Amino acid sequence: MYKVGKEEIEAINNIIESRKYFRYQGPEQETQTSLCEKEWQEFLNVPYALLNTSGTNSLVIGLASFGIGPGDEIIIPSYTFVATASAVMQVGAIPIIANIDDTLTIDLEDVRKKITSRTKGIIAVHIDGLICNLNGLLQICHEKNILLFEDAAQACGGSYQGKPVGTIGSFGAFSFNMDKVITCGEGGLLVIGDNSQKKTFLRALSTHDTPCQFGQTFKDQLTEIPSFFGLSTRLNEINSSMLRVQMTRLPNIIKSLRDTKADVIDFAKSLGLKVHLGHDKEGDIGSILHISCSDPMTAISKSKNFLDRGIKASPPYLRPAHACWRWFKGMTKDHYYVNGLNPYNLTNHEYIYKKQDYLTTIKLLGEVIRIELNFIENPNGITTLKEVLKEIAP
Ligand SMILES: Cc1ncc(COP(=O)(O)O)c(C=O)c1O
Repeated sequence: MYKVGKEEIEAINNIIESRKYFRYQGPEQETQTSLCEKEWQEFLNVPYALLNTSGTNSLVIGLASFGIGPGDEIIIPSYTFVATASAVMQVGAIPIIANIDDTLTIDLEDVRKKITSRTKGIIAVHIDGLICNLNGLLQICHEKNILLFEDAAQACGGSYQGKPVGTIGSFGAFSFNMDKVITCGEGGLLVIGDNSQKKTFLRALSTHDTPCQFGQTFKDQLTEIPSFFGLSTRLNEINSSMLRVQMTRLPNIIKSLRDTKADVIDFAKSLGLKVHLGHDKEGDIGSILHISCSDPMTAISKSKNFLDRGIKASPPYLRPAHACWRWFKGMTKDHYYVNGLNPYNLTNHEYIYKKQDYLTTIKLLGEVIRIELNFIENPNGITTLKEVLKEIAP
């Protein structure tokens, strides 16, 4: 999806030649990483931004700093990348999976059914750049006194009712791995939009870099919270320098994706095709088009029309790590990367995940063709896409 040019190469070269790779270079010393965080703060209009080595780690640091831990349940959608579930488990909590609805984002009715006395929060995932019903979710969170978090890994540059996604929940997490709209190879961002959460942010800072509690850079600020041991998920100067250049490309990339998607949606609808849309059509980042078919076999065979013409398309059902039932064998008491830390053994409650509880999701993900609108460097691809849409139209 992303575009990379000589500017990124120059930026990285400069850092390599400078031999300064570490994000901290002493108190009040700006670095590529600190400047990049400031640029995200400004771009997203948030008081707190923290770069990490990945989107997964940004979720983990966010959950940990908001106090999520063993015994807690966090509701996530049935259609997301496995990292959303694994981040919840990494803090010792239990992912509770709610079905999606026609928008392919989390179904609010199912969310309500899944809330228990152990529920501490919901992670809204703006999957494939489709925007969740954040107002509806905030309403549920308010009623039930739980927190809303945003996994915006696949929606950097998206918005909900004019506000950037990732800044509306208690925290937002973004990913900059190589499948995203902008990339620095690997990287992630945690943002907190609420000014009053300074201590939470300091906890996030200490969790992402335990040694920073012992150094000079944050000596004064970190006196505001107790000392504790956390992880090491710092981004380095090489990745940050590349990300700074990539950020400058983001507005044009999003504009181009959105223009293409709007055009293609109108065209598809004029042919009588059904398109799945999220809860904010204008805020959608425009990276993916979702066309509905009558049944899974038709979705598979029509996907082939796109593939034959060089356009990436498939039913999401076939995505290896995005459909929740594929994760279930790793979500048990028996196996975990550190057995003693297995979240299912840190609670008295029994959790058994069953594929038959996700029939709505299975039907939706089987009957949809997910088409990548990756035409930024190949505008002729749009003409080809339209030709294929004509071929598959009823
Ligand atoms: C929805 C979602 N959440 C989380 C992640 C994790 O991001 P990363 O690969 O940077 O750890 C991804 C990455 O693909 C994602 O798509």
